[in-house]
Amino acid sequence: MSVPVTVPKVELHCHIEGAAPPTLVRRLAAQYGVDVSAVVDGNGKYLWSDFSSFLKAYDTVSSVFKTPADYALLSETYFRLLAAEGAIYGEIFVSPDHAQAAGLSYRSYVEGLAAGIERAKNETAIEGRMIAIGVRHFGSGAVERVVKEVIGNPHPLVTGFGLAGDERSGHPANFAKAFRMASEAGLGTTAHAGEFGGPDSVIAALEFLRVKRIGHGVRAIEDRELLRRLVDEDIVLEVCPGSNIALGVYTHLRFHPVNMLRREGVKITLNSDDPPYFGTTLGKEYASVSQTFGWSHEDQMEVTRTAIEAAFCDNATKKRLLVRLDSAAR
Ligand code: ADE
Ligand code: ZN
Repeated sequence: MSVPVTVPKVELHCHIEGAAPPTLVRRLAAQYGVDVSAVVDGNGKYLWSDFSSFLKAYDTVSSVFKTPADYALLSETYFRLLAAEGAIYGEIFVSPDHAQAAGLSYRSYVEGLAAGIERAKNETAIEGRMIAIGVRHFGSGAVERVVKEVIGNPHPLVTGFGLAGDERSGHPANFAKAFRMASEAGLGTTAHAGEFGGPDSVIAALEFLRVKRIGHGVRAIEDRELLRRLVDEDIVLEVCPGSNIALGVYTHLRFHPVNMLRREGVKITLNSDDPPYFGTTLGKEYASVSQTFGWSHEDQMEVTRTAIEAAFCDNATKKRLLVRLDSAAR
């Protein structure tokens, strides 16, 4: 009898500030005298009620991380938890604007996070990379500043550039220059689209930002022509079902389009987005989606394979990850 093997997992879409355990946030808030009572309750639960208040809570929570050591602890904690769920690789979205607001330079921020990634790797063998994001509702000037910082201060673990924040503000055309610079510098690119915006938002991201990965992208299900385009152009969706349910994009997992997207031939990956805000983890995403839609062990292996192939890391690392994936196959 074969013993069930845990599916090796990969995460491509998780905001590091959004992965902060509430207990850690409360501890740092007390240390620095920051009032977080409006965004973390006494039971260690994040307080928010819709996407706008979530984004505000995210800003407040980010303000308690003030030193490279704070960020090292944050990334080490996240990657250790990820590895404990069977993950072999993770990419985190890092937000230089949030670090700057807390008084930290881009270089110190990234070096702090990298130190935590290295510590987690030494303990658990998990590989990690960073995707620097510009925040859409901070405007195109801020987003261009981020890409210039990334290019001007190259770091081996910062391998991607992305766009997050409020999709309802600012047209992708405003960010075309930033994405052109990122691509020319050899960074992998991804943009949040089709989460709070409809199919047109995904189309605009493809047209103006020329990304090969889309954060969320799930509302592409509403446009058959777009679905065909995603398949034909090998676009990979970073799907975050638990996040979509928590933020009210869909009412219940059984109505979430992740299964239909996959059946249509769209390449999908599973991700946690901002895990403690949404009561999720990468392991829970694999488990709940598989249970709801009857995905087999092989189906889940395919999700991880898609994520490795779409990862923003070098080919030698991808090869090693694929060997680890295949060696866990039943
Ligand atoms: N920043 C953190 N989480 C986000 C999300 N789900 N969408 C857009 N921006 C974000
Ligand atoms: Zn996100």
